[in-house]
Amino acid sequence: MAGRIVVYSRSGTTARLAEDLAGRLGCEISRIDPGRYGWPVLGYMRAGRDSLREYRPAITVTPPVQGADWLVIGSPIWTSYLSTPLRSLVDQRADLPPILGVFTTSGGVDEQKNVPLQIDGIGAAGAIPPWLSLTTKTHGTEAGEDKIAAFVAQLQSQIASIPPGG
Ligand SMILES: Cc1cc2nc3c(=O)[nH]c(=O)nc-3n(C[C@H](O)[C@H](O)[C@H](O)COP(=O)(O)O)c2cc1C
Repeated sequence: MAGRIVVYSRSGTTARLAEDLAGRLGCEISRIDPGRYGWPVLGYMRAGRDSLREYRPAITVTPPVQGADWLVIGSPIWTSYLSTPLRSLVDQRADLPPILGVFTTSGGVDEQKNVPLQIDGIGAAGAIPPWLSLTTKTHGTEAGEDKIAAFVAQLQSQIASIPPGG
């Protein structure tokens, strides 16, 4: 059963968490490229503006996820919401493998009250999927490790319940 982590990361923090999770779940990573936020200062400003106006950038996902049995998707928090590239991906979910879980990194507070609203309905049976929320300070700490272990256990139990062949 081949699953995939799909991540957008502008400055590397969420990508590092994706690598950690991929190692634990034994799966590959696909990266989202929105082609708009790479420049240091302009990219940051554009990201904030796009997030506030709920813009959905065109994205490319490499390698493509079609054929994977399940996805776990990850993103930084922008203006208290999922980043715009992940919002674009979520909008495409009808054409994607099932999304089993969501992970986010943020600069400040650990819990982002808007995220559950954004991911409501995208999990198994239309539920809110398991969600791992870390800050730039909690990844690599004992508290972060506990949250990651609990998230991975939830994912593994969902993966075990997927019948062979989908
Ligand atoms: C445009 C923009 C908006 C952000 N808004 C928030 C926010 O509302 N709350 C927060 O805690 N962190 C915010 N951050 C910080 C990022 O969520 C944090 O640094 C994250 O770990 C970056 O992940 P990345 O390195 O994978 O891009 C924001 C960052 C950017 C670029």
